[in-house]
Amino acid sequence: MDFEFTEEQLMIQQAAKDFAQRELLQDVQERDANAEFPTQHVKKLAELGFLGMMVSPEYDGGGMDSISYILAVEEIAKIDASVAVIMSVNNSLVCYGLNRFGNEEQKQKYLKPLAHGEVLGAFLLSEPEAGSDATHQHTTAEDKGVFYLLNGTKNWITNANSASIYIVIAQTHPEKHHHGINAFIVEKNTPGILLGPHENKMGMCSSDTHSVMFTDVKVPKENRIGEDGFGFKFAMMVLEVGRIGIASQALGIASGAFERATAYAKERKTFGTEIANHQAIAFKLSDMAVKIENARNLCLKAAWLKDNNKPITVASAMAKQYAADMAMEVTTEAVQIHGGYGYVKEYHVERLMREAKLTQIYEGTSEVQKIIISRNLLKN
Ligand code: CAA
Repeated sequence: MDFEFTEEQLMIQQAAKDFAQRELLQDVQERDANAEFPTQHVKKLAELGFLGMMVSPEYDGGGMDSISYILAVEEIAKIDASVAVIMSVNNSLVCYGLNRFGNEEQKQKYLKPLAHGEVLGAFLLSEPEAGSDATHQHTTAEDKGVFYLLNGTKNWITNANSASIYIVIAQTHPEKHHHGINAFIVEKNTPGILLGPHENKMGMCSSDTHSVMFTDVKVPKENRIGEDGFGFKFAMMVLEVGRIGIASQALGIASGAFERATAYAKERKTFGTEIANHQAIAFKLSDMAVKIENARNLCLKAAWLKDNNKPITVASAMAKQYAADMAMEVTTEAVQIHGGYGYVKEYHVERLMREAKLTQIYEGTSEVQKIIISRNLLKN
């Protein structure tokens, strides 16, 4: 077993760290307060090759491994989790799905600009009445011969406004339940697509989240991904990769809070000494460090399994559930260590705590991850 990173992995980690420290840090608080989309920073992500990191160079991607990808996501999430989720959705849910399951024409037409970072993508699975219970899709894709007719509403869609290309999951044969579901590539400017208002969220305020309504939207037949009825399996297989990205995002949020709490504890004095010298604080830091290390190992193991073409269903669920719950605990303790200063905006930890909460909800709640893990444990 090798716990060393390669030179290339370290270079990518450093590039992400430099970008986050030099560029994201300066306006992260302002963008969060104004719920402002980070347009310039997303352009920079594209220049760095961070929007299609694992796509092969043949399709304008970076040809990097998943370990490099999660190292980059972690560094970016330490400073700005909104930028990290924009990046994670594009890399894992959109590019990965097209790279693995798209046909040659779809890759040439859609994957290349996505991997190159010319356009962003979004993944549309959740609905007002189908979040965790994802097989119960109400959005329909009626087969009309040369095209499908899409009708329905999708909810909580990251990148909904900024994306140009949507991957939409919809029901074609309701009588077949989840075996009748398909996945489609839909261009956002197709007539009949309408966006709801920007959601007024607790955290990750500068990533754009909207509902998306489809009314008689014509989708060319050639835009269906895979065989008829493959859509639900497609969504599950893409999400298990997405969850490694979100686990790393949670890890980054926790690490960012931990670094800030440690620095503060070494400076802030009470009762005649730095608070780090009080065992109550030192032990909190120790517990936080152990949890972060556990989460990091789970993320790295899941990424390693993926890079070695081994099953990742359980490993990615474990990484996501543990890292997300851990991020909530660690950011809460970081606020506690800061005392009153933790509760005001300027010390960043309150934002990190708000950001951590979402990692327990999207791309499968912590409870959904436990369903996946326990079912796999108990299946034989
Ligand atoms: N790989 C391949 N196939 C899989 C699979 C996987 N990982 N997981 C399930 N399947 C298959 C099953 O084998 C089964 O197929 P068969 O019937 O042919 O055997 C089929 O899918 C249905 O599986 P289940 O019976 O397990 O389905 P279920 O109804 O019990 O649900 C679930 C399982 C795990 C709870 C699933 O519904 C789920 O993951 N829900 C959460 C959805 C989710 O993560 N949503 C996030 C939205 S995306 C988002 O947040 C993006 C964003 O913008 C940030």
